[in-house]
Amino acid sequence: MHRLLTGAIALAVSGLAAVSAAAEDYRLGLITPPSHMWSVTATRMAEDIKAQTDGRVNILIFPSGQLGNEAQMLQQMQTGALDFAFLTLGEFANRDPNYGIFLAPYIVDDVAGASKLLTGGVAQELLDGMADFGLVGLGWGMAGMRMIVTGFPVESAADLNGKKIRTIPFAPELAFWQQVGAAPTPMPLPALYDAFANGQVDGMQIDVEGTWNSKYYEHAKGIVISDHMMFPMAAVASGRKWATISDADRAVVEKAMDDYLAALVTGYAEIDADYLAKLETTGVPVTRVDRAWFGPSIDSWYEEWREKAPMLKKLEAEASN
Ligand code: BEZ
Repeated sequence: MHRLLTGAIALAVSGLAAVSAAAEDYRLGLITPPSHMWSVTATRMAEDIKAQTDGRVNILIFPSGQLGNEAQMLQQMQTGALDFAFLTLGEFANRDPNYGIFLAPYIVDDVAGASKLLTGGVAQELLDGMADFGLVGLGWGMAGMRMIVTGFPVESAADLNGKKIRTIPFAPELAFWQQVGAAPTPMPLPALYDAFANGQVDGMQIDVEGTWNSKYYEHAKGIVISDHMMFPMAAVASGRKWATISDADRAVVEKAMDDYLAALVTGYAEIDADYLAKLETTGVPVTRVDRAWFGPSIDSWYEEWREKAPMLKKLEAEASN
């Protein structure tokens, strides 16, 4: 082979080696299906980060709990076996009640109120505290406002008495449903459609988007638009893995997280409204209710959780400003 050509090939190969040595595949796990906005946002954000880092940070997305449930993902992140995740509050709230305070019923009226709290001082304090879990808190997202889907007709909150209502196994959510008089029944999202279809649960606390996309309405006799809680998501990185990423690439990831999470949160005003309009075409009766509908159960929840989670009072102060 010509000496010059050999040299050029050697140069090209060594150049490739340099790029691939610096480029790395990372994994981001989450429990939502590919159609959910969390998964869609993760995918778009990963493409953007890859482009901005010239392929050095290539984040592969694993939706639908493919890498395990949230407890397993948290463990993997602590050992550095998983790099990033979008997590609900469950694993945090069950370790430190302060992480449950975003689930305070009616602490906000709508997505705009949620957006304000998720970018406020308490939210930042909780992100910083994730170092105690071996994580780096990168920001907060959300899945809109919570609603209720039932396999029985609902007129008043008394109709929920003794009913098995699916929740996530978060202490504050379980406490809410106990206060309401229902039988809160923890159930992971991927198992929910079948559990509702075969009567293992009588109803569910859920998001508007999921109710449409996962067709929970197919077995419903009632849809209650209660907007009773926001439903935050924590975007986190493994502390061990984060430490191996260069400062410049971390800055790209941080900025992308800020931008995509802000768009995700504020986007839910429209997402919830659009999916609600779709649900209204299903023929399942849709009832709109407010805080008063739940009676004294909400005040009792606050009495209990102000004691359990000292940061709740600070969040209430932020909400009322
Ligand atoms: C749920 O389990 O209800 C849920 C989890 C993640 C996003 C939306 C809903």
